[in-house]
Amino acid sequence: MMINEIKKRRTFAIISHPDAGKTTLTEKFLLYGGAINQAGSVKGKATAKHAVSDWMDIEKERGISVTSSVLQFQYGGCCINILDTPGHQDFSEDTYRTLMAADSAVMVIDASKGVEAQTRKLFKVCAMRHIPIFTFINKMDREARDTFELLDEIEQELGIPTCPVNWPIGSGKQFAGVYDRAGKKIELFEDTMKGTRMGTVKEVELDSPEASSYVSEEALELLKEEVELLDGASAAFDQEEVDAGQLSPVFFGSALMNFGVETFLNHFLSMTSSPLPRMSDQGLVDPMEEKDFSAFVFKIQANMNKAHRDRIAFMRICSGEFEAGMDAWHVQGGKKVRLSQPQQMMASERKMIDKAYGGDIIGIFDPGIFSIGDTLTSSDKKFAYEGIPTFAPEHFARVRQVNTMKRKQFIKGINQIAQEGAIQIFQEFNTGMEEIIVGVVGVLQFDVLKYRLNHEYNVEIILENLPYEYIRWIENPEINLEELRGTSDMKKVKDLKGRPLLLFINSWSIGMTLERNEGLVLSEFGKS
Ligand code: G4P
Repeated sequence: MMINEIKKRRTFAIISHPDAGKTTLTEKFLLYGGAINQAGSVKGKATAKHAVSDWMDIEKERGISVTSSVLQFQYGGCCINILDTPGHQDFSEDTYRTLMAADSAVMVIDASKGVEAQTRKLFKVCAMRHIPIFTFINKMDREARDTFELLDEIEQELGIPTCPVNWPIGSGKQFAGVYDRAGKKIELFEDTMKGTRMGTVKEVELDSPEASSYVSEEALELLKEEVELLDGASAAFDQEEVDAGQLSPVFFGSALMNFGVETFLNHFLSMTSSPLPRMSDQGLVDPMEEKDFSAFVFKIQANMNKAHRDRIAFMRICSGEFEAGMDAWHVQGGKKVRLSQPQQMMASERKMIDKAYGGDIIGIFDPGIFSIGDTLTSSDKKFAYEGIPTFAPEHFARVRQVNTMKRKQFIKGINQIAQEGAIQIFQEFNTGMEEIIVGVVGVLQFDVLKYRLNHEYNVEIILENLPYEYIRWIENPEINLEELRGTSDMKKVKDLKGRPLLLFINSWSIGMTLERNEGLVLSEFGKS
C-alpha cells in the first residue's frame, strides 16, 4: 500500500526564464489534472497567478515573496507534485534549493527567445544533480525561431543533447500542429480562443491524403524534409540517458492555447520515474526498500507570524509514510521531535494533511530547531541525507549599522537570518566582525534583510554595494591563504564556518588566479 503510493509519485520542478510561460503551463497541468476548472484558468493573469502560485498572502503584504509553493494533483494514475521555483525579482537561494527536492525538471523555453539567462542558471543546478530534464518549447502560436537553431542553442549553451519527441509544423499564424515522431502522426492544432476552450487534438497520418486537407502542401514538404534530416542528425531516444540527465526529450506546444500540454504530460509521466534513491552518510536510501519515514529540510519560511516567531520547515519526504503528529528523530539536533501542523498545497488551497508519502513535500511547524539540509527519520539507522550545497551569491554589499549602539542585536539578527539561509555573510579575512559583507543570489534579498533587521530586530542598516560578482570556495584546505597570489580585484573572505573564499569582479581573474597558484581548486558551490 505504502510502496504503491510512493510509486505513483512524480515530483518535479519547472524551470524557466521569466515570461517563458511557466505559470501558464503549471495552470494547464492543473487543468488537465482536473484540479482547477476552465473558469479558473481564464481569469486575468494577476488573479490566476495569485490563486495558484502565491499562497503566502502575508508575505505579499510585506512586499517580499520568498516562498516556493508546491502543488499536488492527480493525473493518469500518478500523484504529481510540482515545485514552483520563484523567479522574477524573487529569485533567491530558495529557488536553487527547491531544485534539490525535485526528482526531475521541466525546462520551459520561449520559442521566439531560446535559452535565456535564468534558464541557464537553473539548468546548471539541475545538471549538477544529474536529474532528468525535459524541455517544453512554448509559444508556438507566435512567430518562433528556426527549430534546428533552437535545439542547437540548447545543446551548445547548456551542453545537453536533445531528442525531439515531436516536431512543430510552422509557427505563429502558420502553426499547424506537431508531428509525433514515434507514432508518425500529425497532431493538429486547433484554435482554442486563447485557451478558453479545452480543445480536442485531431490526429492524421503524415502520408495520408487527409493530411493535405489540414496542412498546406508546402508545410508538409518542409516537414518531411526536416523529419528526414532529424532522423539522420539527432540523438535517438534513450531512456537511460534521459534518467541520467544526459539527454533532454523535447516537446513543442502552446501553453496558452492548451496545445501540446496533454501530449507532454503523457510522455513525461511515462519517461520519468517515481521517487529515486537518495544519498545519505550510510549509503543510498531507496524508497522502495526503506520502509521507515525519512525526509530532509530544503527550505525554511521564517517569521510567518511575527508575534510568535513562527517558522515553517519545508521538507521533502524521501521514504516511508508520514502521519500528522508523528515523532521522528532529528538527526542534526540529536533528539526526537514531534512533527506537528503539517501542511500541503492541493491545487490552489493550502490545507492541513494527515498523511503523506515518499516523494511528497510538506511544511512542518518549526519551533526554531531545524536548519536547511537537516534530516528527520523514524528509522533506527538514524542516517543523515547529503547536505544541500551553498549556492554562489552573485550580488555583494557591505553592511553598516546606522546606530552602532545596537551592535549586539545587529550581530544576532544578521547571524540568525544567515542561518536560515536567506543571505550569506562573510567577513574580511584576518579581521574580526568589524566588516560584514553579505552575499545574495537575488537582489530582492537585500531588501528582505533590511526589512527583517528593522522589523524583527529593530536595527537599521545601510547597504553599500560592492562590485564583486563571482565567488569561489577554496576546495583544498592545505592552501595557505596568506601566500595565495591573486589578481588586484580579488578579495579574500571567510564564511560563517570560517572557510576561506575568494571574491572576484570578473571571471577572467578567476582563471588568472588558478594559473598563478598551482594545485588550487576553486568551486562554485560550497559543500555544507
Ligand atoms: P512565467 O510564469 O514564466 O513568467 O510566464 P507566464 O506564464 O506568466 O506567461 C508570460 C506571458 O506569456 C503571459 O502573457 C502569458 O499569457 C503568455 N504566454 C504563456 N504561454 C503562452 C503561449 O503558449 N502563447 C502565447 N502567445 N503566449 C503565452 P501576459 O501578456 O504577460 O499576460 P496576460 O495578460 O496575457 O495573461
